[in-house]
Amino acid sequence: MKSVVITVIVTLAALAGLAWLFAATGTFQVSAIPREPSTAASFLGYVMDHSVQAHAKGLSAPDLDRPEMVAEGAHHYRALCQQCHGGPGVKPEELAKGLDPEAPDLAKTADDWSSGELFWITRNGIRMSAMPAWKTTDTDQELWEVVAFVRKLSKMSPEDYARLTAGGNGEESDEQGDGSEGGKGEPGVLNPESPSDIGPPLEPAGTKGIVTASYPIHHL
Ligand code: HEC
Repeated sequence: MKSVVITVIVTLAALAGLAWLFAATGTFQVSAIPREPSTAASFLGYVMDHSVQAHAKGLSAPDLDRPEMVAEGAHHYRALCQQCHGGPGVKPEELAKGLDPEAPDLAKTADDWSSGELFWITRNGIRMSAMPAWKTTDTDQELWEVVAFVRKLSKMSPEDYARLTAGGNGEESDEQGDGSEGGKGEPGVLNPESPSDIGPPLEPAGTKGIVTASYPIHHL
């Protein structure tokens, strides 16, 4: 019995060593340039499917057929998801062309998932892919609204989508970091009320003559 245990441990250690050596050779390709599906990608797809199914088990959805849910969800979808996934009659934006794995057309794939699974993916994102976790920025209510909309995607015409997303609910302006939602004081976020929040204070440089020497104030 003891020798069996030792054999197993030595074999596992040898396998771990081989995996480490393989990694050290740098052979494994981490470039995101889209390419033909590989064994590693199919394996990761398999891991993702089963992980999502296991983690989303027991999640119960609210009533997703309510028209208000779908209408709110359409606005969120246009603001948060369309750039990568596209929408009815709308192509994904340029950034989506350089993703590997690519962001699938949800009108085609959403029906493969239960509503709880769609919610879980949207809320938690997918690790080591470009799919973000929206839990950090959006409430569960908003994310269920997105799911309510995604559920309708497969049968939605470009006209219906255009009608549902016409006008705005102000979400887009928040996405651009105008400081109206939690942006105050964050680095790099423009806060019109307090422009001095951005970058280091410039006055000391001015008084030392660094700025004024090369750019006399009356030229600015
Ligand atoms: C920056 C790009 C990007 C944005 C924005 C984005 N996604 Fe994704 N999404 C992806 C990528 C890439 C995948 C594929 C991940 C994988 O297969 O491992 C994905 C996968 C998914 C999946 C799984 C689909 C399937 O059939 O495998 C769902 C559902 C999803 N996203 C929903 C959303 C929703 C809803 C939003 C908006 C709230 C959103 N995504 C925003 C990039 C994005």
